[in-house]
Amino acid sequence: MRVSHEQLNTELVHQHRHVEAIMLGVENAQGALRHEAFDQLRQYLAAHEAAEQEFLHEPARGELDEHRGIVESRVQEEDDIAEMMRGLERLSPESVEFTALFKETTERIRTHMQAEEHQEMAAVARALQPDQLEAAMTALEQVAALSEDAIEDASFDDWLDRARDTFHGRRQVGTR
Ligand SMILES: [Fe+2]
Ligand SMILES: [Fe+2]
Repeated sequence: MRVSHEQLNTELVHQHRHVEAIMLGVENAQGALRHEAFDQLRQYLAAHEAAEQEFLHEPARGELDEHRGIVESRVQEEDDIAEMMRGLERLSPESVEFTALFKETTERIRTHMQAEEHQEMAAVARALQPDQLEAAMTALEQVAALSEDAIEDASFDDWLDRARDTFHGRRQVGTR
């Protein structure tokens, strides 16, 4: 499979639009549906960020010294977002506290996704070698399937681990 920078960019943007749709779903839902939508968000977002961390930020960091700062900022944002997701997991999705922290978190996620699209992909991802582009695409393509697994009470961190295990062939999508 030969993957171009444009194809990788298209897939990344597509996934960001999906994250946006799930976030709106959480905002607009109530009760059990809100729980469900938040589960979907942490599952999909964890798989997406795990793919980026390992197959986009990490190789890009090694390829272009002058753009290191752009990548470091994205990694830092993902750490912050993960911390906010952990905070949200400690709250009831129906609480006022959740709603306030969720608003802050979604703003952070939106800014992060825009920076990836407009700064990182534009500058850094062009430096990826053909095999690195292919590996990134393969990981991103597993995100949708990963987010269809159903495990009760799995946390954002659990989903990060499961995604990494899947990317490294330590488990198959759809298995426990
Ligand atoms: Fe990201
Ligand atoms: Fe992203």
